[in-house]
Amino acid sequence: MIGVYVHIPFCVKKCNYCDFNSFDNKNSLKQRYAEKIIEEINNFEGDLNADTVFFGGGTPTALEQDLLQRIILAVNNKFNTTDCEFSMEANPATINSEGLLLLHKNGVNRLSIGLQSANNDELKALGRIHCFEDFVSTYCMAREAGFDNINTDIMFGIPNQTLDSFKRTLEEVVKLKPEHVSCYSLIIEQGTPFYNMNLNLPDEETERKMYYYAVSYLQQNGYIQYEISNFAKKSMQCRHNIKYWERKNYVGFGAGASSLIENVRYKNSEKLIQYIENNMPEKEILTMSDALAEHIFLGLRKTDGFNIKETERLYNIEFYQKYKTVIDKYLKLNLITYGENMALTKEGVSVSNIIMSDFM
Ligand SMILES: C[S@@+](CC[C@H](N)C(=O)[O-])C[C@H]1O[C@@H](n2cnc3c(N)ncnc32)[C@H](O)[C@@H]1O
Ligand code: SF4
Repeated sequence: MIGVYVHIPFCVKKCNYCDFNSFDNKNSLKQRYAEKIIEEINNFEGDLNADTVFFGGGTPTALEQDLLQRIILAVNNKFNTTDCEFSMEANPATINSEGLLLLHKNGVNRLSIGLQSANNDELKALGRIHCFEDFVSTYCMAREAGFDNINTDIMFGIPNQTLDSFKRTLEEVVKLKPEHVSCYSLIIEQGTPFYNMNLNLPDEETERKMYYYAVSYLQQNGYIQYEISNFAKKSMQCRHNIKYWERKNYVGFGAGASSLIENVRYKNSEKLIQYIENNMPEKEILTMSDALAEHIFLGLRKTDGFNIKETERLYNIEFYQKYKTVIDKYLKLNLITYGENMALTKEGVSVSNIIMSDFM
């Protein structure tokens, strides 16, 4: 079984914080891009049984409906997608009822809507194209169109955000009862407008409080945390993202998309024009030690961590012997748990980067 990722690099307007491979000034390339991605899908050779499909971006719903439908059909024709989790990212105010109905009819069964904040001043500061009311209306239209698996992306650490305004965002989200919530800490990325702006950001202590408040508030409301930033109602975890964290096989189509197939990583050309005219995927054969480092790094993101016996079998190592010093150090500090699985503790999550790098 394989996971399928399709990258749609178009947005209505670029947000002030975003460094994803996405553009608001390349609309003239949409048609050629769609045709190229369909060609790439049609030419794929490999496992054709997909159990997850994820259309991400960018904003897939910023693509014209007919082009988006053609790409969805190409995926459905190429891969066996029966019983598949089929996710699509959407930005509020980029899709209407008919569009949502059409997506649902063509097999999309999970919608991921980017809200970021329920506070309109914060949305404005982020450079979002929508207000909170637009989000609610897109969300309700999606429910009416039949979507019974919806994710909402929110962020903390936003300029001018306070612990109280973040609590309000969480309350408004929980009121709508999405099946899944992704809650990211805002990263100020080099090369984005935010990087050179004098921002009034919440201090580190407030950010920490925001994160732990989100963890406990979401938990009280029936969301199980299964990864550092991801929370889901029972059995509603995103199976596609779990595939990434468990290093299962996946294939990526589109500019900059990567694939992992039996420890070989491929990455498509990132620039749109290059991808369209002469895609030259980079190929990297991972050594066992690269793969093991990724396995630990990605596995520790999951709340349950990773299984020690399986790790030993996959990488032919004696795990405790190999990492004895690091394991003992973090066990003593109560930053990890070590038994059948190894995982970060609640305290460990706040210093996860340091712990992960110690295992590398
Ligand atoms: C591709 S976008 C989701 C779909 C759509 N483009 C949107 O923004 O609504 C993926 C998510 O990544 C998160 N994200 C993007 N840039 C980020 C950053 N610099 N720091 C933290 N989260 C970020 C946002 O929550 C965003 O919703
Ligand atoms: S956050 Fe989403 S809408 Fe904003 S620029 Fe990035 S991909 Fe586009």
